[in-house]
Amino acid sequence: MDKTFLDFLIAFDSRPDSVRLRRRSYELLQVGPGNRVADVGSGGGTAVAELAGLGADAVGIDAADEAVAFAREQHPGRRFEVGDALRLPFPDESLDGYRAEKLYHALDDPAKACAEARRVLAPGGRIALLGQDWDAYVIDSDDPALTRTIVGAAAADMVHGRVARRYRGLLLDTGFDEVTCEVHTAVLDDPALALFMVARLATGAVRAGAVSQEQADAWLGEQRNRAERDRSFFAVPLFLAAGRKPVTPS
Ligand SMILES: C[S@@+](CC[C@H](N)C(=O)[O-])C[C@H]1O[C@@H](n2cnc3c(N)ncnc32)[C@H](O)[C@@H]1O
Repeated sequence: MDKTFLDFLIAFDSRPDSVRLRRRSYELLQVGPGNRVADVGSGGGTAVAELAGLGADAVGIDAADEAVAFAREQHPGRRFEVGDALRLPFPDESLDGYRAEKLYHALDDPAKACAEARRVLAPGGRIALLGQDWDAYVIDSDDPALTRTIVGAAAADMVHGRVARRYRGLLLDTGFDEVTCEVHTAVLDDPALALFMVARLATGAVRAGAVSQEQADAWLGEQRNRAERDRSFFAVPLFLAAGRKPVTPS
């Protein structure tokens, strides 16, 4: 993971609607003082700092050493540990809350991660999954067909690019109850953030063999030109699913 990506995450996470959406996830987790909450795939550590600010006993778990080092640097005094979402470093039933944002699309086995969340949550504990569906971006372009090809190919190039539309099903299949799913659409009106994302999509589509490098370059050129003229449009539906571990085992 490079620093540019972590900087992108911090910039994305600082947007007012990202802040509001995280707050909404804490509400759904019913976070209160003293609650033991893990933010899994904690990246730059923003959520852990905010959860701790609400009085929770919060810990961030991330598989990347660089992310953990970066989060510790950004948020001194907060807890961050290297760990794997598929084998969490917590005993059974030891947490009140589990949160994972923009993580499940990158996991080999989202169902296993969800089962792992259920294992570590105490009965009545709450889970919140938050992230984008990589096949659902809305991007204005002079070539809508090429844009669809690029978005679809980039989604297919990810390990589980379309997992967010399955969050609700995953939670139900894993035995959570009180399951809800909300969709909050973000509009990336900062051209630098929008260009970072379109460049990522184009790279994925070329890697997947769906478009040539020349096609990707031409598409990116048009997106840059739109950004210079303030005519970009990039919208992302963000899915927020939540559930509870049943109090009586089902
Ligand atoms: C896109 S970032 C999101 C970070 C943060 N949750 C946010 O919303 O800004 C995904 C993070 O998940 C971490 N990650 C990827 N695979 C993981 C795994 N198997 N277990 C734990 N963390 C993982 C990555 O290192 C990265 O920091």
